[in-house]
Amino acid sequence: MGGLQLTEHNGVLCAGCTISLLGTRLNTYVYLVDGLAIDTGPSKFRDKYKAFFHSHRPERAVLTHFHEDHSGNAPWLEKQGVEIYIHPSAVPLCRVNAKIPFYRRIFWGSRSKFSPGPVGNKIDGQTRTFQVIEVPGHSFDHIAIYDHEEGAIFTGDLFVTPKTKIVMKYENIYCILDSLKKILNYDFRTVYCAHAGVVDNGREMIKKKAEHLESIIYEVIQLKEKGMGIDEINKKIFPKTVPLTYISGKEWSSEHIIRSIILDKGNV
Ligand SMILES: [Fe+2]
Repeated sequence: MGGLQLTEHNGVLCAGCTISLLGTRLNTYVYLVDGLAIDTGPSKFRDKYKAFFHSHRPERAVLTHFHEDHSGNAPWLEKQGVEIYIHPSAVPLCRVNAKIPFYRRIFWGSRSKFSPGPVGNKIDGQTRTFQVIEVPGHSFDHIAIYDHEEGAIFTGDLFVTPKTKIVMKYENIYCILDSLKKILNYDFRTVYCAHAGVVDNGREMIKKKAEHLESIIYEVIQLKEKGMGIDEINKKIFPKTVPLTYISGKEWSSEHIIRSIILDKGNV
């Protein structure tokens, strides 16, 4: 386990950690902009984030969504007197200790209960106000934080990669696509992603991801109409199985992409 990687980009402090486990390497970033912390990092790195937040105390923190790699240090931060905010739909979930599958506890650590406030459509920094945009799909409560002044957007797990090969069981591909298109209505250049870090050509990359999902949707629907089933389509479009599929007991899998495209069609 390495230390936090601290960088600064256009007035945004980026505090990243990397976990390498079982052949899988994952980065997670917490951002601090104008006194506002965006996400809090996983509890597995609590000591390192404690040191970071002690030397860069935020006025408040907002979580892009409830997952433990984003909310893990929120209970500790709350005890330090920092107000925490999350989408209203996730508030009840945060008030109890999280039930997390074993492999995720190994990767990120657990997340104990805390009491965040429901975020509205705006959140204040020290000197300016950020816009809160609902971007569900990866999770039901997902939000993005838009900084109009700097032309930047903090996207949590909405982006991650332009070519999605694997998603979680509960993700909805159509909602993700709608959310990507929704943020493209805003004027931004830089994307601050919770796993890919600072994406300078963020607008371009968000467009790329939306186009990629559209082409997969088209392909899946074509194959379905030819009479192929979910398993068969999955093997054709994603012939290589990503290791996280096995590690997660299929909580993450390319199969969920195909399933969502077929079963969520018309239900959004
Ligand atoms: Fe997530």
